[in-house]
Amino acid sequence: MKTQVAIVGAGPAGLLLSHLLHLQGIESVVIETRSRADIEATIRAGVLEQGTMDILNESGVGERMRTIGALHHGVELSFDGKRHRIDLLDLTGKAITVYPQHEVIKDLVAARLAAQGQILVEVSDVALHGVETDQPSVTFTHRGEEARIDADFIIGADGYHGVSRASMPGQDQRRDFQRIYPFGWFGILVESSPSSDELIYAQHDRGFALVSTRSPTVQRLYFQCDPKDHVDNWSDDRIWSELHARLENNDGWKVNEGRIFQKGIIAMRSFVSTPMQAGRLFLAGDSAHIVPPTGAKGMNLAVGDVKLLARGFEQYYKQGKDGLLAGYTEHALKRIWRAEYFSWTMTRLLHTFEGATPFEREMQRAELANIVSSRAMATALAENYVGDF
Ligand code: DHB
Repeated sequence: MKTQVAIVGAGPAGLLLSHLLHLQGIESVVIETRSRADIEATIRAGVLEQGTMDILNESGVGERMRTIGALHHGVELSFDGKRHRIDLLDLTGKAITVYPQHEVIKDLVAARLAAQGQILVEVSDVALHGVETDQPSVTFTHRGEEARIDADFIIGADGYHGVSRASMPGQDQRRDFQRIYPFGWFGILVESSPSSDELIYAQHDRGFALVSTRSPTVQRLYFQCDPKDHVDNWSDDRIWSELHARLENNDGWKVNEGRIFQKGIIAMRSFVSTPMQAGRLFLAGDSAHIVPPTGAKGMNLAVGDVKLLARGFEQYYKQGKDGLLAGYTEHALKRIWRAEYFSWTMTRLLHTFEGATPFEREMQRAELANIVSSRAMATALAENYVGDF
């Protein structure tokens, strides 16, 4: 089979790129190792920056997000027994929407299928060939048969563990930057009404905790844990007592309990791999970079990459110029490093580090106190959070 852009991976990066290319009359085929049911059900992050909301709206796939997503104009920081509101709208003129990644995936899959877009799922043995030539190809097995896509370009949007990054030529020139954190997040989904109108990021001696939401009847909560711990070690009672301890102060506010119907542990790392392109292969999203979830940037960074690639391909196919594609890594990394910095900052600020000295603990408190008492510092946090950079 032949197409213009072969896209490996049907996550937010791959699907959004395929959708944006289609709107410009550029053909693509997406291949994915998982099933449609899997990609549409995998629980991932949930916060969309203003720029992500804008591109979904402008490209015609924002309707469900506007209807069932929750628009938030602020977030709260909880520490030293008090909650403090950061007014995102007042400080930046922008907002965020809490709308889970798998819902974005559903919207994009529906849009691609409605436009007769090709998404081949449950493929295996994916291999990339000829990426240094102008006739690259992807081979794979699909429904028991060997298949091949010849394309002008290949996009590696197959996540941190995908084959694309490892298939980049020039591995000797590859630079990977990485930090692995000594903690993870325990995430739960709960049947209950929201505990709070806005997200609460809590720093506590027992560890970080976060109150988020999914819908009027389903809530998403997280708390810092040992990344090697196992969900079976956490009874519902133990989870609730930890959340109550970390989130509640003496003001009478309480976390709403409910039936916990999903539990999982997320490991945390910061990771950037450069360059993000070689010949006709371009990496997008988690295949090239990972952020710890504290800054809520993961999916937004993938969308940032895709916006650049969509513009690059538009220039290439409409004007016959490759300047934007040639500058992709350099351009993308500017935004990525800033998001890496913010995600690392939020992680460092809000988590409890085993072995931290009392001095270091006081420094965390002082930094939080600065943020909530200085409009300038609160603005810096808000700008980063809404993605205004
Ligand atoms: C959610 C995830 C995040 O990483 C975050 O910072 C805020 C909210 C969520 O899943 O809702």
